Amino acid sequence: MTADHRLPPIAPGRRPLIGHALPLLRDRLAFLQQLRSHGPIVRIALGPKSVTVVNSPELIHQMLTVQSGHFTKGLLFEKLKLFGKDALPVADGPRHLTRRRLMQPAFHRERVIGYVRTMRDTAASAIGAWSEGNELDLKTEMQLMAQNIVMSAAFSATPEPHTAREILTSVDTLFKAALRRALLPLPLADRLPTRYNRRLARASSTLHQAVTGIITDHRTRPDDYDDIVSMLLDARDETGTPLPDDEILSEVTGLLAAGSETAAVVMAWLFHEVGRHPDLEARLHAEVDTVLAGQELTADHLPRLTYTRALVQETLRLYSPGWLVTRQATGTVRLGDFTLSTGTDVVWSPYTLHRDPGLYRDPLRFDPDRWLPDRPQPPKNSFIPFGAGKRQCIGDAFAWTEMTIITALIASRWRLRPAPRILPVPVGAITVHPSVLRMKTEARQADTAREAA
Ligand code: HEM
Repeated sequence: MTADHRLPPIAPGRRPLIGHALPLLRDRLAFLQQLRSHGPIVRIALGPKSVTVVNSPELIHQMLTVQSGHFTKGLLFEKLKLFGKDALPVADGPRHLTRRRLMQPAFHRERVIGYVRTMRDTAASAIGAWSEGNELDLKTEMQLMAQNIVMSAAFSATPEPHTAREILTSVDTLFKAALRRALLPLPLADRLPTRYNRRLARASSTLHQAVTGIITDHRTRPDDYDDIVSMLLDARDETGTPLPDDEILSEVTGLLAAGSETAAVVMAWLFHEVGRHPDLEARLHAEVDTVLAGQELTADHLPRLTYTRALVQETLRLYSPGWLVTRQATGTVRLGDFTLSTGTDVVWSPYTLHRDPGLYRDPLRFDPDRWLPDRPQPPKNSFIPFGAGKRQCIGDAFAWTEMTIITALIASRWRLRPAPRILPVPVGAITVHPSVLRMKTEARQADTAREAA
């Protein structure tokens, strides 16, 4: 094969028949991380299948921007169609472009400012239900909070607590199934009427029922709403035809799934780090106390919460929710010194990229100060928690805003203390979530009174 047609090299450690399946099954995050030392692009073998892993920030950027026309979203997103086959995150080609143009205005920075009050009230109501000395399952707490924020800000919906839990469980079940099917495709087993598949069908039906209820309510009382669901209902194509019902359902379900779990795990990791670094906690408290000065949080406070944002940014770096993002080549593509043939399955990982010692000094240290403007900044294209190019997260401004609000609101009222003897470890599921995260609430007023005594 000439230099012009070089396949990426195969990573060391391939075993006959099973390829690299063992280290991947043993510890997927560690396996993907060490692959970075084997070059800008490497191939791994999963049984008979070969998957190409793009490591270099320049080549990832190229693939997501100038070369994006040569790729579809690939294996994982194909399986995520369990949520709805036409939703923005899984759509490809012209359909994606039209839908993205339609939905983009609802996620513009200026529009997101209009969601601040709802985001604040939704977060405040969850936080207000905590009491002194509660031991929280912080991951679940954050999942419910983030889910309620998407539902209230984007769909004007406030589900009862038991419905919110049912929705969360259903989303979780579908996510687990999508990841399992992507990593271990068993096409026949997926179609059999097994107990597991019936559970999946129930989860899907619960989720779709909840979303259908929201859409029906918007149709019945259109004047009461001005949100993302109304925008989808009002949309017309060039012939004046509205979007079909099943597409609206897919789109709303897709937003719920894409927007809840991601922000939730970032919040969980942030409070895990703040809880074990009293110096960072003190700076966070000092900032929110000064900026909020006892007032209710509004959009005007957000630009002044600079340390809070640095904490969010550092969490997005060290604990990027995305550890496995897929693509598939639609034709022969040249990437760097290599050629990928039609149908090549590709993956890239924001999580491992952000932990690369060649890009970040002391990468495993949680250090929000690394984002101060007077510090050397990481090389171009090496901080991409939201992806890049035409498939970049549409909800990035939404997510930044809600995460800043949640962090500031919690910090203004509570200290979250780590439960003793349990150290959470990152688990590569649909996002990178903490294995377990139990934290105890300590009201800050009590703290201030102790200091004054
Ligand atoms: C910390 C929070 C979040 C992170 C880290 C995140 C990350 C990402 C990433 C990496 C992608 C691109 C995947 C790819 O290139 O294949 C993406 C796409 C997407 N995200 Fe997010 N996301 C977050 C929050 C949200 C929120 C709050 C929403 C909506 C309310 C949302 C909606 C979407 C949608 C609809 C897409 C698909 C966009 C398209 O393909 O055009 N995300 N997200």
